[in-house]
Parts: sequence; C-alpha cells; structure tokens
Amino acid sequence: MISSEGLVRQNLDNNRSLKLAQKFNKTEAPYWVQIFGTNPQTMAQAARIIEQEIKPIGIDINLGCPVPKARKGGYGAVQIGEIDKVVEIIKTVKQEISLPLSLKTRLGLTDPTEILDFAPRLVEAGLDQLVVHARTLKGMFKEEPNWQIIKQLNTLLDIPVIYNGGIKTPEDAKFYMEKTGCYNLMIGQATIGNPWLFQEIKSYFQNLLASNETTNTAPNISIELNKELSSSKQIKISTILDHAELVASYFGEKGLIGFRTQLSAYLKNLKSPKSIRQQAVQITNLQDLKNLLKQI
Ligand SMILES: Cc1cc2nc3c(=O)[nH]c(=O)nc-3n(C[C@H](O)[C@H](O)[C@H](O)COP(=O)(O)O)c2cc1C
Repeated sequence: MISSEGLVRQNLDNNRSLKLAQKFNKTEAPYWVQIFGTNPQTMAQAARIIEQEIKPIGIDINLGCPVPKARKGGYGAVQIGEIDKVVEIIKTVKQEISLPLSLKTRLGLTDPTEILDFAPRLVEAGLDQLVVHARTLKGMFKEEPNWQIIKQLNTLLDIPVIYNGGIKTPEDAKFYMEKTGCYNLMIGQATIGNPWLFQEIKSYFQNLLASNETTNTAPNISIELNKELSSSKQIKISTILDHAELVASYFGEKGLIGFRTQLSAYLKNLKSPKSIRQQAVQITNLQDLKNLLKQI
C-alpha cells in the first residue's frame, strides 16, 4: 500500500515504499500495488508512476482501511460515505493507466447492505475487479463476516468479486467459496505467524479435487506444492529468521521491536511453550532472536 500524495509530492528516489516494491522479484509475482488518497488527479498520477516504475499486474484503490489515521485523513473506509468522489477517482485513474483497476472495500459504514447500492456505480465508473472485506467499518476486524451479502453482490455484478473476511482454516476457505460463489479469496489476520496457510488451503483443495468431492462448477485449481516441506519445523524457523532479517534490513535492528508481535504469532503457530513466548516480547536484535530460535 502506497500513499498517492507521498508518491506524487516526494522525489521518487526518496520514496521507501517505491524502492521496496521495485525490489519485488519473480518469486513474489504476480502482485498488485494498492494506493490510497482522496484527490482524483493525485491518485491518477500515482497510479501512472506505479505502472511505469513497479509494473504490477494491476492497481488497487484502498477503500477499506478503518484506522484512526485514515479516518482523520479522509481516506480508506470512510470514503464509502463519499461515493460520488470515489466514482470520480475511478474514472480519472482509469484514464491514466492501461493496467486493470481494482478496489478493496467493506460492506458499508454501518449497514452491510450499503454495498449493494454503491458497488454497481463503481463498476459503471470502470472498475475491473472488486475485493470485499465482509464487514462494515463499524465492525472493524472482528464482526462476524456477512457472506450472505457477498453472495448477492457476486450475482449482481459482472466483474470478479474477491471474498475477504474470517478465513482461518482450509475448511473456512471452502465454506466461504461455496457460500458466496467467489472463486478468489483474500486472507488477512490468519496469515500473521502462519504464512503457510496459503499452501495448506491449496493442498486441501487439491486433495478435494483429486477425490472428486467438489462440485463440477469449481474452477480447475492446479497447484504445485510440497506440504510436508512447507510445514516442517526447520523451514518455519528459517522463515522466521528470513522475515526478521528483511525487517532489520528495511528498518534497521530497531525494527525488531515492531517484529515482536509477528514473532509471538509465529511461536503460537509452532505451539512453543509460554517461557519462550515471554522471551519473544523482549528481543531487541537479531542475535537475541537467533538465541531464542535455538531453544525451539
Ligand atoms: C496488520 C494488517 C495490515 C493490513 N493492511 C492492509 C492494507 O495495506 N491494505 C488493505 O486493503 N487491507 C489491509 N488489511 C486488511 C486485510 O486485508 C483484510 O481486509 C482484513 O484483515 C480482513 O480479513 P481477515 O478477516 O482475513 O483478517 C490489513 C490487516 C491487518 C491485520
């Protein structure tokens, strides 16, 4: 996610998000880049810079972020309350880029049926794909996801609708896919400390397809994976270290203070004892982390 204002106002050489995204490599592709902002011209200019400088497969507009900073700045989920302006943003951005344009939003500000009114207007403005977090702004991150509305929405719109919200297990993924008819899913919180969830889900679907348990309307999902390898403890430990090293190279070792939350989530996933998890909230550098990982 990149700030449109930051990208347009700042010298590109000083934009850390841009620099980071330019380093994405083949193993990270395909990726989308998300922008946020309120000014249609600035959003369009930012989208053009991203198309040229990062070359993602598409650009996404953030209309879902609920945090106080976003609310204060007038961007993210609060923009659901200003759909006329969002329509203008979509039209202006669309004119400036040749890549597909996506938008990620929530069901509404407080009423989950709001999306059924505003989404067709976004499609008419030129949107190619809609990602929907099945909660309202008021519902933040914990409200029970409302898949019933997404099901209605998916029937209503003729562009791909991507389901997001509450997926924690492969069984959840199957549940929401079947209930909504959305064959693309997005996962947030459950991947923190468990990036292997994606492979677990793919493997689960692969097995289902192999045993012919899915309906014949399901898409052909072909996956290459090695579940045994991905879930082995050693791989998980080395991934934690890789992750921490990336954090340290971007923010410096002080960034590891912020990494403690992620580390705790990884350790929970590894079912580490409480004594080790207590140490996790005290690490200050890479050596501390290495010492801790040796005890696992
Ligand atoms: C730490 C964190 C960072 C997030 N960053 C973004 C973001 O940059 N852009 C975005 O569209 N959503 C972001 N989200 C929201 C998620 O994409 C997702 O919509 C939300 O967590 C609901 O899905 P879940 O129930 O699977 O967690 C973030 C969520 C979390 C927890």
